[in-house]
Amino acid sequence: MSSPCSTSAVLAVLVALAVGVGAEQPKERSCDVVGDEGSESQMEKALLKKLEPLSQIRFNVTVEKDKTENYVYQFRVCREVDSTSHDFGGLVQTDRKNGKTTVIGRINETQVFNGSDWIMLIYKGGDSYGSHCSGEKRRAAIMISCKRGVTAEGFEEAARAHWEKEQDCFYLFEMDSSVACPAEDSHLSVGSILLITFVSVIAVYIIGGFLYQRLVVGAKGMEQFPHFAFWQDLGNLVADGCDFVCRSKPRNAPAAYRGVGDDQLGEESEERDDHLLPM
Ligand SMILES: *[C@@H]1O[C@H](CO)[C@@H](O)[C@H](O)[C@H]1NC(C)=O
Ligand SMILES: *[C@@H]1O[C@H](CO)[C@@H](O)[C@H](O)[C@H]1NC(C)=O
Ligand SMILES: *[C@@H]1O[C@H](CO)[C@@H](O)[C@H](O)[C@H]1NC(C)=O
Repeated sequence: MSSPCSTSAVLAVLVALAVGVGAEQPKERSCDVVGDEGSESQMEKALLKKLEPLSQIRFNVTVEKDKTENYVYQFRVCREVDSTSHDFGGLVQTDRKNGKTTVIGRINETQVFNGSDWIMLIYKGGDSYGSHCSGEKRRAAIMISCKRGVTAEGFEEAARAHWEKEQDCFYLFEMDSSVACPAEDSHLSVGSILLITFVSVIAVYIIGGFLYQRLVVGAKGMEQFPHFAFWQDLGNLVADGCDFVCRSKPRNAPAAYRGVGDDQLGEESEERDDHLLPM
C-alpha cells in the first residue's frame, strides 16, 4: 500500500523543514520596512519572517550582453551583501570590466507584499541613476515564486525597466522558493480522504479479523485471516475469470516454441555433438 509510505514521507519532510527553519544569526542587520508601524507593516513583518530561512544564502548572477555589459549581481534576502561596508546594500551590481560596484537596492528601505503563490521583495534607496531615469534612486524588485520542495533556485535577472524610461525605473529579478507557497492547510482532497478511509477500513478488517480468528475461534496458520475460505474462493474465481478472459490459446495447447534457456542450449548442442560424432 502506498498511503502509509507517502504519509511517513510527508512527515519526514515536515520534520526536516521544522529543523531547517531553526538556524539564524542574530547579529546581522535585517530588512527594515518602509513606512510607519501600521496594520500593513504587520503583514510585511509576517512575510519577512517567512523569508528568513533564505537569509543565509548568497545569490549571484552574471549578466553578459553583447560585450558592452558584463555585470555580476549579488543578492541576499534581508541581509547586507557586504556587511563590512555598512551601506545596507541588499542587491549589489559589480561591473566586471572595471570592478565598480553599484548598490541597486538597500535593505533599510524594504517593501514586501504577496499574492497567493508569490512574494515580491523590493529594495529601494539604491545609488542614483545619474543622468538616466531623472536621476532617481535605483530600485530592485525580486519576484519569488512558489516552488515546493525547493529552498531557493533559479535566481536571475528578469527585466530591466530602464534607459527608455523617465521615472519609476527598476531592476527585476526572479527566483523560485517554497517560502512563497501558500500554507498547506490540512484540508485534504476528496480522493485522499476516500483512500485513507478505504485503507483504514481494510487495516481494521484484517487486524480485527486476525485477532478474532486467533483469539476467539482459535484458528492457526493461514486460517487466521478473516473469511479465509471466502477470499480463497474469490481468488480462485478471479483466477478462473482471468484465465477465461485473458488467455488467447486453449489451456493445454502444445507450446508453439520451446523456451531457450542457456542450459537448454548447452544440452542441445551436446546432443547434436553426439549425433555428429559417429559420422
Ligand atoms: C557568490 O559570490 C560570492 C562572492 O564572490 C561568493 O562568496 C559566493 O559563494 C557566491 N555564491 C554562489 C552561490 O556562487
Ligand atoms: C538607508 O541607508 C542608507 C545608507 O546608509 C541611507 O543613506 C538612507 O538614508 C537609509 N534609509 C532610511 C530610510 O533610513
Ligand atoms: C499572503 O500570504 C498570507 C499568508 O502568509 C495569506 O494569508 C494571504 O492570503 C496572502 N495574500 C494574498 C493576496 O494572497
